[in-house]
Amino acid sequence: MSESVFLVVIIAAVVTWASGVHVTVSPLPGKAESISRRDVALIVIPESGVSHTEYTVLGRVIQQIYPLRMWVSLLDIAKEETLTLDNLPLLLGESMKELSNAGIHSDPDIFLAVHGLRGHVTADYAQAVPLSLRGLILLGTFLPKRFHYDSFPLPVLTIVGEIDGVVRITRLAQIVQSMILADQQQPGLVIQRPIVLLEGANHDTFVQGDLPAWLHVLDIQAEGDKTVATTKASNLTAIFIASILQEPEGSVETAQLVFQATFEHAKNLIQPIISLIEMTQDNLKSYWVKSAQKWLSGLEGKQSTQLEVDSYVVADRTLPPTLVKEHGINYVITFSDVIQRSENDDKDQGLNPQAPEEIAARMLGPERIREYLKNSTIAHNYTCQDLNYASFMTAYHSASERARNRYNNYHRGVIFEPDIVTDSEALWESTRLKLDTVDHVLHVTSISYQTANDQALSPYDGLFFCKLLAPDRALEWIYVDSLRRSMSNIQNN
Ligand SMILES: *[C@@H]1O[C@H](CO)[C@@H](O)[C@H](O)[C@H]1NC(C)=O
Ligand SMILES: *[C@@H]1O[C@H](CO)[C@@H](O)[C@H](O)[C@H]1NC(C)=O
Ligand SMILES: *[C@@H]1O[C@H](CO)[C@@H](O)[C@H](O)[C@H]1NC(C)=O
Repeated sequence: MSESVFLVVIIAAVVTWASGVHVTVSPLPGKAESISRRDVALIVIPESGVSHTEYTVLGRVIQQIYPLRMWVSLLDIAKEETLTLDNLPLLLGESMKELSNAGIHSDPDIFLAVHGLRGHVTADYAQAVPLSLRGLILLGTFLPKRFHYDSFPLPVLTIVGEIDGVVRITRLAQIVQSMILADQQQPGLVIQRPIVLLEGANHDTFVQGDLPAWLHVLDIQAEGDKTVATTKASNLTAIFIASILQEPEGSVETAQLVFQATFEHAKNLIQPIISLIEMTQDNLKSYWVKSAQKWLSGLEGKQSTQLEVDSYVVADRTLPPTLVKEHGINYVITFSDVIQRSENDDKDQGLNPQAPEEIAARMLGPERIREYLKNSTIAHNYTCQDLNYASFMTAYHSASERARNRYNNYHRGVIFEPDIVTDSEALWESTRLKLDTVDHVLHVTSISYQTANDQALSPYDGLFFCKLLAPDRALEWIYVDSLRRSMSNIQNN
C-alpha cells in the first residue's frame, strides 16, 4: 500500500532536536507558513509507561499530512511517578522553552495530544487553562464523566480504536449516545467535538512498539495494518487542527464532511450496544425481565396471549411480584433491581465492564400463574439458567456481523451452569450472579430463590427469583472481554 511506503520514507527522514529532555521535532522543510505567521505546536503526552520517543512516527506523519508548518514536542514524563496538575504545567513549560530554543515563533497555537490513561488529568489541565490552548486531542481516551463534551471550553477530538481493550467501546457508546442528544440541541457539535471509532484498531495504534505488559494483556489484537490506522489517526488530527485554525482555505468544510461521517460511523457501531442497554433498562422498566417473566410462565401459543407483564426497576426490595386483573387483562407485575457496578469518578477509565453486574429479577413461577389463570397449561418449566442462555443468544444475534465473526474466530465459549438454589431471600439477594472465566471459557451461574405455591404464604407464594445476566453484559463479553489477551479481569467481585 502506498501509505506504508510513505511511512518508511518518513522514519528514515526523522530529524530530532536532542538538546533538552523532551523531543522537539522541527517543521518539515518546504511547508508553507500560516498567513497569520503564527506557528503551530502539537505537544504529545505519552501513555503511562510508554516512552515519548514511541510517538515519533505519529508526530512526523501528522506534520507530513498537515498542510502548513507544524512543530511537534514529545513530552518526556518517564521521571515522574504520576502525571498530576502540579507537574504537568512544569513539563509543558519545559517543552515550550525547548521549542523556543529550537526557533519556534513566540505565541504559537498550541494543541495537546494525549494517549490513554493520562487523558483525564490532561483534560483537567486543559479545562483549567482553555485560553492557553487551541484544542485537545484524545487518543485512546475520552473526556471523563466530570466533563461534558458540549460544555467543554475547548474543541476536543476523540479517536479510539473500535477494539481498544483498555478503553472499552461500551464506555464510548455512552459518550456517543450523549453526543447524539447534545447534537440535537446544538447542531454542529459533532464537528467541534469530533468522535472517531477507528475500525479494527486497538490501544497501541498510536505508538510504534508495544504497550507496557499490563496494558498489553488488557488490549485486543488489532486487525489490519498498524501503519494504515496510524496514518488515518494522523490525518484526522491534521484535519481537526486545520479546521480550528481555519487554514488553509476549505479546511472547515472538509472537517464538516469528514467528522459528520465519523460520527455516523460511530453511531452505527454503537447501535447494538445502546439497544441492549435499553433492553436491560429503559426509564423505570426492564424489557428483558418482561421477556424472562413471559417465558417463565411456561405458556405457549394462544395461551400466552392471556398474560401481560409489567416489569418495573425499583430500588425498593420489599415489594413482591404480583398478579392483577385490569380491564379484563391479566398482568404480572414484577419489581426488579438492576445492579450497576460501583465505580467512582477517578476510576472512570473505561477499563472495567460498563454493563450491570446482574439483574435481580423478582418474578412469579408458572404454578402461581396457572392457578390465577385457572385454565392454562404449563408447556415448559424454565430455569434461570435457560433465561441466561436466552440473554446470551439475544446479545449474540444483536451484535454486528463483524463483531459476531470476530467473536466466533476467537473460539471462546460460554457455559451456563445449573442454578444455585438458595433457601432464603436474603441469601439470594446478597449472592451475585457468578461469572467466572476458566481456560478462556465463561461460566455463568445464576442464583435462584423459589417459594411454594401455597396460599398460606400469600403474597409470597409461588415466587421465582433469578439472578439474570443482563443482555448488555453478555454483549460486552462478545465485544470486549472474550477478546482481550488476558481475561482475568472480568469476574463479578
Ligand atoms: C485524509 O482524509 C481525507 C478525507 O477523508 C482524504 O481525502 C485524504 O486522502 C486523507 N489523506 C491521507 C494522507 O490519508
Ligand atoms: C379452557 O381452555 C380450553 C382450551 O384452551 C377451552 O377449550 C375451554 O373452553 C376453556 N374453558 C374455560 C372455562 O375457559
Ligand atoms: C412442570 O413442573 C410441574 C411441577 O413443578 C409439573 O407438574 C409439570 O408436569 C411440569 N411440566 C413440564 C412440561 O415439564
